[in-house]
Amino acid sequence: MNLVDKTEKTFALTTPLYYVNDLPHIGSAYTTIAADVLARFQRLLGRPVLLVTGTDEHGQKIQRTAESKGLPPKTFCDEMSAGFVSLWQLLNIKYDRFIRTTDPRHEGIVKEFFQRLWEKGDIYQGQQKGWYCVSCEEFKEERELLEGHRCPLHPNKEAEWRDEQNYFFRLSKYQSHIEALYQSRPDFIQPESRRNEVLSFIKQGLQDFSISRVNVDWGFPVPTDPNHTLYVWFDALLGYVTALLEEDAKPTLENALAKWWPINLHLIGKDILRFHAISWPAFLISAGLPLPERVFVHGFLTKDGQKMGKSLGNTLDPVALIANYGADAVRYYFLKEIEFGKDGDFNEVRFINVLNADLANDLGNLLNRTLNMVKKYCAGNVPSITNEDIPIDSPLKSTGLRLGEQVKNAYEALAFNQACEAILNLVRASNKFIDEQAPWSLYKQGQQQATEQVLYTVLESVRLAAYLLSPVIPNISSDIYQQLGFDIDFNNQAQTAIAAPFDIHGTWGVLTNKQKLGEPRPVFKRIEPSK
Ligand code: MSP
Repeated sequence: MNLVDKTEKTFALTTPLYYVNDLPHIGSAYTTIAADVLARFQRLLGRPVLLVTGTDEHGQKIQRTAESKGLPPKTFCDEMSAGFVSLWQLLNIKYDRFIRTTDPRHEGIVKEFFQRLWEKGDIYQGQQKGWYCVSCEEFKEERELLEGHRCPLHPNKEAEWRDEQNYFFRLSKYQSHIEALYQSRPDFIQPESRRNEVLSFIKQGLQDFSISRVNVDWGFPVPTDPNHTLYVWFDALLGYVTALLEEDAKPTLENALAKWWPINLHLIGKDILRFHAISWPAFLISAGLPLPERVFVHGFLTKDGQKMGKSLGNTLDPVALIANYGADAVRYYFLKEIEFGKDGDFNEVRFINVLNADLANDLGNLLNRTLNMVKKYCAGNVPSITNEDIPIDSPLKSTGLRLGEQVKNAYEALAFNQACEAILNLVRASNKFIDEQAPWSLYKQGQQQATEQVLYTVLESVRLAAYLLSPVIPNISSDIYQQLGFDIDFNNQAQTAIAAPFDIHGTWGVLTNKQKLGEPRPVFKRIEPSK
């Protein structure tokens, strides 16, 4: 197969494919928000981007849940999968592909891939004995389990004993390949702490694992033995490949891998690390395919410091959160307040405080009061000042000139909180600047030029902040841009990439007096804590 080296030019990234046994929770929303922000940022840079998300629909967990609802599994999956699509719409997620693992085209890809591993001699029949956690869809070592064979991730569920004929994948054969992968590509898994976790797991010795089931009907049949279905994780990981197929392309590996492979970035949570860090590369090596570039692992969210769970009755419903506060607010909180890669907490009081402080007060009020002053002191036009009139050592300009690069590095490192913080620092500095410079007194003293310089400097800083924040808060940024007289909607990514490319709009000094300013209106309404 002839694969072009495309990693520099295009950017393909994935979220996990979410199980449809339940409605989407805040954890799934969290990864998807992060993926969308990165995708939007890459599009601003002008790169062709493919954001892949979707649903993982086979396996025992889903089969049982459908049974308990009295529904045929496919009907149940259709309903649940639609819930993800509609949440992504509410959250303003601009994905390019939504793959469902029950898609008939997926079966073609899975079959062909299985065949490759089979022909390589990497699949054999054996006896599987062990404890299976249906909620994780994973066999567990006895030493990993809590008392009563309960799974530490699902402590209210007992793992089930299995002793059955299964097909196995010869993972042990790939011990040295996987070691070599981690030696030669230290950035393959990030952050570092997760890489270390994987390394110590590899050290214990990789063992073959079963990739088929005899007691589960809800899955693709094993191509060489229809008495078995394929293990859900075998088909799920390949969803990343099927998703790359163009709409009317025949489902062959060659077609799927032609344009976007290898994936540049898989975003995952810490509980599915081994599948992505070990099983996935081993499958791909066995199939003779290039490996993804990078896997980034984020932490778990808690609520008020506590693990979230239905049994604890403290789940956080993303739909309700968006209905109450809007998509931008939800996106902003999770990315600004939590270091991506570490565990993080949701607390409603903190949530409200952060949004009021950053979006309503610092950003929103700054725009509003500056626009109102421009109206009063400059007859509503962008001051007839240009970038060149502002001295290079003017504090906002000098910060603004460095900010684009700084924020770009932060987004590329998935340090969303640092990106937001750096941008907010410019906004805070702008508030301070306007207070200190007091354009209202300058105006009274008849210093028109000085008044205009101050207002231009601040307005341009707000513009830059809005631009750099647009991947996170696209609605607010679009609103700010429109008030500044730009006909740009950050939700229209194709238009934005052309009309406002990063190398121009990502730096300081873009506003000109040709802009026709809009009517000032609040971009983010202060949240009253009683809500
Ligand atoms: N179906 C598999 C993934 C297959 S990928 C080929 C799966 N699905 S899941 O729906 O159970 O989990 C999806 C993601 O949600 C995982 O990345 C998981 O880490 C994440 N989270 C589940 N609970 C979470 C929190 N409380 N906080 C943050 N993320 C959480 O696993």
